[in-house]
Amino acid sequence: MNAAEPRQALEDQAALQIDENGNLRHLLTLEGLDKGLLLDILDDADTYLTEPGSLPAHNRALAGRTVANLFFEPSTRTRASFDLAGKRLGAEVLNLDVNTSSRKKGESILDTIYTLEAMQADIMVVRDASAGVPAYIARHVKPHVSILNAGESDVSHPTQGLLDMLTIRQMKGAFENLVVAIVGDIRHSRVAMSAHHALTTLGVGELRLISPPVLEPDADKVKGARILHNLKDGLADADVVMALRIQRERIGNLDGIPGIDEYFATYGVSHESMKYARPDAIVMHPGPMNRGIEIEGSLADGPSSVITKQVRNGVAVRMAVLDRVAKAMAARQ
Ligand code: CP
Repeated sequence: MNAAEPRQALEDQAALQIDENGNLRHLLTLEGLDKGLLLDILDDADTYLTEPGSLPAHNRALAGRTVANLFFEPSTRTRASFDLAGKRLGAEVLNLDVNTSSRKKGESILDTIYTLEAMQADIMVVRDASAGVPAYIARHVKPHVSILNAGESDVSHPTQGLLDMLTIRQMKGAFENLVVAIVGDIRHSRVAMSAHHALTTLGVGELRLISPPVLEPDADKVKGARILHNLKDGLADADVVMALRIQRERIGNLDGIPGIDEYFATYGVSHESMKYARPDAIVMHPGPMNRGIEIEGSLADGPSSVITKQVRNGVAVRMAVLDRVAKAMAARQ
């Protein structure tokens, strides 16, 4: 894989996701997926939710299938929820330990993929720090195999976008009249990009992206959204407030980023700053959280917070996506 290949793989990836029968084959990005498909996935995910304390939903939809989790970046929520989602649908789930895998001996990512393909892994869930890797893999696997993007550099995190949409819909209903404010390191956030893709398609009333100037996104990547630097303006009468952490692992030079106390005072989502939002506004965070930096800990644990609901919805959304690509796979075979 030369350095340019993954970036090139991003071109036309939206079309690559849909198979010859018009079904979802890979989930690489929410950009370009139509509204009906997004809503169908959310509807499917709703059917996998049960009350906390009761037994989780499970069936045998993926019996005989093998799901391989390949996380070349750290993860708690996404990896655990794909693991549970696969098992609750009856799949064999392989969690490759990347730190002890042969990639450490110089094996290429495609050789790793071909090795797992030979073991009849049907669905590969991929997280990688380099842009374009999920699409690059998708272009090289056998026709029956599906690739699911579990977080790609600062480009996108489609299943996170879906679980965020499910949570917003459960709490607020239709998207059309909502003001959604996302606060923090927008520039390096794949979560913000997938939220932008989904909210745009779903027809959100207004999307505001609030950050220090040094962490603002490129305007051409967030068309239709308002870019703001003032928290009071950004949160004014918002229905939904999502806090994002500073993605230090993706920032080469931290110059210009305020220190912790100044950042919390200026951009922290707190009891104080939430007074600008609507009284019934919900507070979201994709995790992992840095309490006391981008979000006040007691707010994250309080009644307006839907953060644990996001996590619960994450398993349901991943079950819905796995079930959908497995059905599409069966129809191709
Ligand atoms: N939100 C999210 O992607 O969390 P993890 O990094 O823990 O998977």
